[in-house]
Amino acid sequence: MNIEETLVLIKPDGVARNLTGEILRRIEAKGYQLVDVRLVQADVDLLAEHYAEHEGKPFYEPLLDFMQSGPTVALRIAGNRAIEGFRSLAGTTDPTTAAPGTIRGDLGRDWGLAVQQNLVHGSDSPESATRELALWFR
Ligand code: TYD
Ligand code: MG
Repeated sequence: MNIEETLVLIKPDGVARNLTGEILRRIEAKGYQLVDVRLVQADVDLLAEHYAEHEGKPFYEPLLDFMQSGPTVALRIAGNRAIEGFRSLAGTTDPTTAAPGTIRGDLGRDWGLAVQQNLVHGSDSPESATRELALWFR
């Protein structure tokens, strides 16, 4: 066993579409433990730190605007290989082509901003998880 903690965000589109419960259901059904939860209105400073790796990319500014458009649910979850495991549960970045059975594949909508509004975030490595959990659960 390799019990890890990871940061999951239910982004503003997921909260606005009343999908918080459905996404939590999938996380719990998978067997992950819910360790901590916060409802956060993210500000630009938090988001700039969170998305530092994407600064300068064409989608960066619109992404920060979108992420400030409403509340985000931040989750600290734990489980065996939860970092890679949650990324698998979420599906690939673009919900248009994310596999059926995944959160993005089943629930994501192709409405032009589909890559931006993909419902969830999951840390992509142990280093990211440590860094991002410290940001969202200060
Ligand atoms: P990225 O870290 O590549 O994806 P993931 O969330 O799967 O780790 O990108 C971060 C977020 O940026 C992504 O969830 C949605 C947004 N994004 C865009 O808006 N346009 C894009 O072309 C890409 C690659 C990402
Ligand atoms: Mg990423």
